[in-house]
Amino acid sequence: MLSLRSVTKRYGALTALDDVSLDIAPGECFGLLGPNGAGKSTLMSLASGLRSPDAGTLTIAGAPVSPADPSSRTALGLVPQSIALYEELSAEQNLRVFGELYGLHGAKLRARIDEDLEAVQLADRRHDQVKHFSGGMQRRLNLIAALLHRPRLLLCDEPTVGVDPQSRNAIFDYLERLNRGGLTIIYSTHYMEEATRLCSRIAIIDHGRILALGTLDELLTRLPFEEEIGFPATPATDALAAQLGGDGTIVTQEGRHRFQPRADFRLSAFYARAEALGLPPRLFTAARPTLEAVFLHLTGRTLRE
Ligand SMILES: Nc1ncnc2c1ncn2[C@@H]1O[C@H](COP(=O)(O)OP(=O)(O)O)[C@@H](O)[C@H]1O
Ligand SMILES: [Mg+2]
Repeated sequence: MLSLRSVTKRYGALTALDDVSLDIAPGECFGLLGPNGAGKSTLMSLASGLRSPDAGTLTIAGAPVSPADPSSRTALGLVPQSIALYEELSAEQNLRVFGELYGLHGAKLRARIDEDLEAVQLADRRHDQVKHFSGGMQRRLNLIAALLHRPRLLLCDEPTVGVDPQSRNAIFDYLERLNRGGLTIIYSTHYMEEATRLCSRIAIIDHGRILALGTLDELLTRLPFEEEIGFPATPATDALAAQLGGDGTIVTQEGRHRFQPRADFRLSAFYARAEALGLPPRLFTAARPTLEAVFLHLTGRTLRE
């Protein structure tokens, strides 16, 4: 559906995308996971033809991405990271503007506006000005504005930043439904939970480069361990965490330590140490690692710092 071949994009001296190659198949929900500044929005703007690469090529269904070519424009919808709506207009008036930009009008446009407002639970707010909407409502409207013309490829650039859990779920459910219906989706996020839930394949991106790409299971095989051990961070367990430095990595977040062992480290040694410190086994939970661990392993940093 979308292919990038050795794509590089610079802003002055800064290389925002560095020799990126990527193939996204029809029907995929493909995740771009990376921290702020990784190059996700740059990739989206190149894929949608808003910007041109300095080197390399981008094609959609075999045809070069070209903003001038209307067939390339109608093939895709872009949900931009910053909300692009007219605040003074109502939800319905906004959708009419976006629909008409894509040549929709009359009964067909009205029917799609009705259908899409319903799909994201905004039908009862259709006549309200967008400036009175919550962040989550604006995000939902921003999403359907990109879909009225029924593109084959949807580019979603961090569409849940600043939304309440209810709006987030409405957005997820809707995207999953669209994807089951055959829509190809590229979804960028810095939340590994979102990529894990929505995406069949995920590219981990940082400093303009793709560091790893695959299904969740494939990405987890990049780790030298199959399980990590979590335990509450307390003065008593801090002593254990301090002892484990040479045996793997300790990640401390939200009042918990997570121990990610080195490849050759035996977990029996972990439990022996805990016992020697008088720490009961019930404190410890072995768990499958997450993409956060993969990112840490590849970059030495956490996704959210
Ligand atoms: N218009 C621009 N001019 C200069 N630098 C930019 C511009 N847009 C993005 N950048 C820089 O390019 C890098 C990638 O940015 P971006 O693609 O927005 O990352 P992400 O969307 O993953 O947060 C960042 O270092 C950012 O500061
Ligand atoms: Mg961005």
